[in-house]
Amino acid sequence: PTIFVITPTYARLVQKAELTRLSQTFLHIPRLHWIVVEDSQHKTALVTNFLMKSGLTYTHLHIPTAKERKLQEGDPSWLKPRGVEQRNEGLRWLREDRKTQTGADDQQGVVYFADDDNTYSLQLFEEMRNTQRVSVWPVGLVGGMKFESPVVEGGKVVRFHTGWRPSRPFPMDMAGFAVSLKLVLANPDACFDGEAPMGFLESSLLKGLVTMDELEPKADNCTKVLVWHTRTEKPKMKREEALQVQGLGSDPAVEV
Ligand code: UGA
Ligand code: MN
Repeated sequence: PTIFVITPTYARLVQKAELTRLSQTFLHIPRLHWIVVEDSQHKTALVTNFLMKSGLTYTHLHIPTAKERKLQEGDPSWLKPRGVEQRNEGLRWLREDRKTQTGADDQQGVVYFADDDNTYSLQLFEEMRNTQRVSVWPVGLVGGMKFESPVVEGGKVVRFHTGWRPSRPFPMDMAGFAVSLKLVLANPDACFDGEAPMGFLESSLLKGLVTMDELEPKADNCTKVLVWHTRTEKPKMKREEALQVQGLGSDPAVEV
């Protein structure tokens, strides 16, 4: 089956670096279709040119986050969920446009939501490739913990190792699960709820698709960390700004 990877992304200084790292991971994965969804009014030249040269099979989409739902400069990052409209737009494409645009008629496929800043091992993609409904695994460096993980007993997920609100229906990070395309198509209304309370975004999709009992544990019964919730530091531009004042800023024609 093809792995459809949905990645929300937005313009910022580190965007091209993030996309470069991600794309060079994906180049190692057979049968991967990258669905890149820009959080913007229109497709940017940077992402358009980047994807064209990437060597990957991809679909380029865009949809802006509604203004009242967008984080403002200075807001704490947990205040509003990020990438919601973009992931839903990726799901819409899979349901409505995939068939006509790829000519693929079969429902074989796996859907994974890969944020642009995380770190993904190649092994992860082989683990998720034979997902029947929803497969799950640990995520490293997330939720203020070394890792969060489903806890497996007798081959079944029985609870979750997490430091925060374990009573959530599916207390997992976005990077910790994949869904079969078949299940996505069979539940046309399942999507992410941008109004979901903090920490309930993943649950808002999954509760419309599976029960805990049906989760398929991967990565050696959820004992191996194959994906890390890394976050990139925002680069400081103090010198740049000082030079700009003197008319000596970095050449704006050079894409970074
Ligand atoms: C955590 C989770 O890992 C995310 O999956 C979840 O969406 C997020 O919290 C949340 O609470 O909404 P975190 O590292 O805090 O992730 O979030 P980011 O990596 O900053 O954003 C997640 C994705 O959305 C990234 O791919 C990012 O490029 C994209 N994004 C972020 C946008 O498209 N627009 C934005 O304004 C911000
Ligand atoms: Mn992130």
